[in-house]
Order: sequence, then structure tokens, then C-alpha cells
Amino acid sequence: MSTAQLIALDLLVTLLAAAGWVSAGVAAAARRARAALALLAVAVVVTLVRVTTAVALATGGWWFAQDRVVLTGPLLGVAGLAAVLSAGPRLLSAVRAGAPGNAPTVVVPLLVAGYAGAAGLLLPLLAGYPATWSEAFVVVALVAAAGLVTWRVAAAGPPLWTFLPVLAMGLAGVGAGFATGADLDAGGGPTTRHPEGHGVSVADLRGPTTPAPGGRVRRYALTARQTTVQVGGRTVEAWGYNGQVPGPPITAEQGDLIEVTLRNDDIARGVTLHWHGYDVPAGEDGAPGVTQDAVRPGGEFVYRFRADQVGTYWYHTHQASDVGVKMGLYGTLVVGPPAKGLDLTVPVHTFGGTTVTGVAGTPQAAPGTPVRLRLVNTDSVPHRFTLAGAAYRLVAVDGGDLSGPGELREVELRLPAGGRYDLAFTMPDAAVALHLDGGEGLRLGGGEPQPAPKGWPELDITRYGTPATTPFGPDSRFDRSFTLVLDRAIALVDGVPRYAFTVNGRALPNVPTQLVREGDLVELTVANRGFDTHPWHLHGHRVLVLERDGRRVSGSPLWLDTFDVRPGEVWRVAFRANNPGEWMNHCHNLAHAAQGMSLHLRYDGVTTPFHGDHGG
Ligand code: C2O
Ligand code: CU
Repeated sequence: MSTAQLIALDLLVTLLAAAGWVSAGVAAAARRARAALALLAVAVVVTLVRVTTAVALATGGWWFAQDRVVLTGPLLGVAGLAAVLSAGPRLLSAVRAGAPGNAPTVVVPLLVAGYAGAAGLLLPLLAGYPATWSEAFVVVALVAAAGLVTWRVAAAGPPLWTFLPVLAMGLAGVGAGFATGADLDAGGGPTTRHPEGHGVSVADLRGPTTPAPGGRVRRYALTARQTTVQVGGRTVEAWGYNGQVPGPPITAEQGDLIEVTLRNDDIARGVTLHWHGYDVPAGEDGAPGVTQDAVRPGGEFVYRFRADQVGTYWYHTHQASDVGVKMGLYGTLVVGPPAKGLDLTVPVHTFGGTTVTGVAGTPQAAPGTPVRLRLVNTDSVPHRFTLAGAAYRLVAVDGGDLSGPGELREVELRLPAGGRYDLAFTMPDAAVALHLDGGEGLRLGGGEPQPAPKGWPELDITRYGTPATTPFGPDSRFDRSFTLVLDRAIALVDGVPRYAFTVNGRALPNVPTQLVREGDLVELTVANRGFDTHPWHLHGHRVLVLERDGRRVSGSPLWLDTFDVRPGEVWRVAFRANNPGEWMNHCHNLAHAAQGMSLHLRYDGVTTPFHGDHGG
């Protein structure tokens, strides 16, 4: 059973346990001693089952079970034991004597056990990992308060002042929960040695102004403005660079200098350019509030960086990116000589519910022609692709060539939000169809459209291709190790309490900044405790995948800039800290990022003069 299924099963069992205790209490209150006794037995059994689901969850990773093991499990255990000891013997003798068995010493403990069970159901839904003292205070106070109320209803009950300590406990818990706590996570490495103000500003970490020897300067001017696009015969409001959606394709050869002048005509929220997957110097990264201020209407910013990495990348605004990218402020960046034959970039994007490939018409390729398709997912959710009519190879992922990519046919490719796949094949005699999410996508060559194939298994890219040497691996000694547990919880987002997308129980900007030093070998473990897929994306570095769910990569080394952490999954990745700066580290479901799932990774000694305007 997968961890995601276990999480669901555990919640179901917890619900049944809570229901069992509550209905035992209700049956007792209704003077049905025999039914109450039977339900008590059921509740005990289900509660014991819950112990096994919690233990099973813990084997998938401590993060998945921590709240169960340290808080809600013991709470239900204590309440359940008290209920058994108090209600059990009394119900037994009531059944023997034919008495109603509705004494408060029977009803109240049973219901309190039910409340404790309900807390075990609500806590994982409302609070993320880790369960804290503050949550423990609130949970225990709530269960106790509900118990006191029940007691007063069932019998004369305790005096009102007994609510005071319970109230105090709850308030203390809430107060502690709003304290923001540490703002730096050194990942087990040494903490800062550069006091604030004595380092290098990210604003000074700019790119070179000349190409490498033999390279040329590629100049682009991109002006963001409102425009419209045609999708499925409809005219849709959009924002574009130079009025185009996607924006003008940027291409270069390795060693060239890319120089892009960004202007903003009328996008009131402001815009930037972020070079997704491209490890530019920090000052060119386009992260508003971190590496620059957003470009407001009438403003301008010039980006310069060397085209060092070959492959398929993309660019997009990073200011209010949830809205900006959705509206069309993105384009492709392809570096390297165009592939021989047909070289097609396919920036997939969804406008108002319609997903388009970004390719006009039906491109033609003569049989025998080499074809390269560069798939780019510019949306916030994964897309599924199948290629029918030709055997092909997945030759590059996130711009990086794979080692020994074998021939593929009848498989489905799942491309994470923000990710890129390059497919290569030789054009056969008949047409080739690239289907998108089980529907129409792109056709090469003539012929009738074919229905999308069904039931093709998903390619596991961690087992595809052949191993090759890497500069570090799963057994390396890491200078710093960080763990990011992704979940949903009630947390402050920009000072407002929300049902946020959280990292380690906190939301932007309260997630502690990760601190590294130049040269560090850094390990990141990303675990998903929630029910949504989180495409994780670190700026400025490609990460090497070490393990997924404890299983090492057995195919080609995978250097990624975005990896999908699905519900219940745990990814372990690593990178060398070789690009000083302050970098965003966030979920590339940009709505999740805007609702809290975002943090910074900062090199020791780097400071930023930009504040407050982070734009997700
Ligand atoms: Cu493509 Cu911070 O994002
Ligand atoms: Cu997410």
C-alpha cells in the first residue's frame, strides 16, 4: 500500500474510532446499555487498528506519523483507557442487572474518548507537520472543554471556574502558535558568520557583459502588456511579452551573451523575467523582493547572462506569478544548435480551461527526417503525453541530456509543472500523434486524427536510461541536510491566517530561510504529507535525484530543476552550492506558492536590499 493510501486509510480508521466512541456514549445516554457495551467493544478494536495504521505510516517516514505518535495517539489512548475503566464495568453490571447504564460516569468518558478521536482526525487536516506544543495545548484544551460541557449537560457537573485553566491552556497554545520562531535553518551546518550588512548584496551579483570568446551577443527587448489570445475560436484576455503569447522565443548558442531588456507597458502588478532552470547569477534571477524590485508600468530592467547550459528552458514573470504566468507572461529559452531535421518547441499552456500546445498548424516532416520535440509545461499542474506512430527516445529532461535513453513505445510521459522533456525520433512513413492529457495534442504529417491511446503505463524516469558517474551520490557526506514536509494547515500567510499550503507547518514568509555556504554539498529531503501534488523547484541550481521513497535512481542520473512530489512521496535530492545568492525555493504549482508554499535559500554573507514584495 502506498503512503498516500495509508494516510487515507488512517484517517478513515480514525473517523471510525471517533464514531465508535461517540455512538457508545450516545447509546449509553439513551439507556441502551447492551448496545453501548457492544459499541464500546467495537471502538476499542478500531482504536487498536489505528495503532497499526499509525505504525505503518511511520515506516513511510516519521513525518507522516509524528502527530499521531506524539499527540493524538496518546490522547486517544488515555481517553479510551479511562473510558474503558470507567464505563466498562458499569455497563457490564448494568447489562447483567437490566439497568439503563446512563450514569454520567459512563456517558461522559465515552464521549470524551470520541472527542479525542475526532481531534486525531482534525489535527492532520488543519495542522501540518510537525505537531507542536502549541497544537498540543489547543487540542487538549478543546477536548477538555468539550468534556466539561458534556459533563455539565449530563449531570450537575463541575463548577464553571474549572473552565478557566482549560481556557488559559487553549489561549497559551494559540499564542505560541502565532509566534513565528526561528527564521534560519542551517541544515545542521555552521550558522552565519557574516553579520547582516557585511556581505555581498544580491544586487551586485550580476552577469557578465561580454560573451565567451567566440560567442555573440543576443539582444532581446520584451515589453509586457495586455493583449488577447485566440483559443478554440474564443478571444481570451491575456498578458504577453511584445503582445505575443507565448513571448518571443529566446535562442542562443553556448557561450553567447543573452541580453534582455524588459519593459512594462500596463501590467499594474508589475513584471519580472525569471529564467526557469537556468542557473544565472543571482542578480539576474528575476525574483521580485529577493533579487530585484518588480518592474512597474513605465519601468525597465536589463538582464544579462551567459548561455552556458545547453538545452530546453523557459522564462516567465515571477511577480504575482500565479496570475502573471497563467495570463501568458512566459516564453521559451532554447540554447544550443537546433537539432537537424525538425526541431519543435512545444510550450503547453492552459487558457480558461483549454490546453494548447503553442504550435500552430500541422508541422510537416518527410519520412526519415530526425524530429526533436521540446515539451515545456508552463502550467501549474502536470500534463500527460503519449506519442503514437513512432518509437522515440526521451533524450533530455529539464534541459539535461540523459545517459543511454532507450527506445520507448506505448508509454505515457508525465511532465511536472515547469518541467521539460525532449523527445527524439525519426519520422516514419505515416503520421505521428502527440496526445495531451488523453485528448488532442499535436500531429506531425497528414492523415486522420487518431483517438488517444488508453492504458499505456507511465514511464518511471528514475529507472530509465543507463547509470553514469556523478560528482556525488546517495552515500556522499553532506555538509547540510534540509527536510521540507509539505502539507496544508492553518497558518499565517503574509500575516493573515489561512488554510495555507505549508512547509514544515509554516507558510511564506515565515518558513525559515535555509542557510548554506559556497562549496557546501547540500541534501534536500522533500516529503508530501498532503493530498496535492507539489512540483518542487529550487532556483539557481539543478539538483541530482538521489532517491524516491527510499529507492535509488537506477537509470540515467537525473539532474532536475522541478520534480513532482506526489502525495505520500519522499524525494531525496542533492546539489553543490556553487551559485552564491539568495534563491527562491518553492512549489511550482504557483497557486500553492502564493498560498504559502515557498521559502528562501541564502548563501552565508549574501544580503538583499529588496523587501516585502515577493510575488510568490
Ligand atoms: Cu519557474 Cu520560481 O519559478
Ligand atoms: Cu504545491
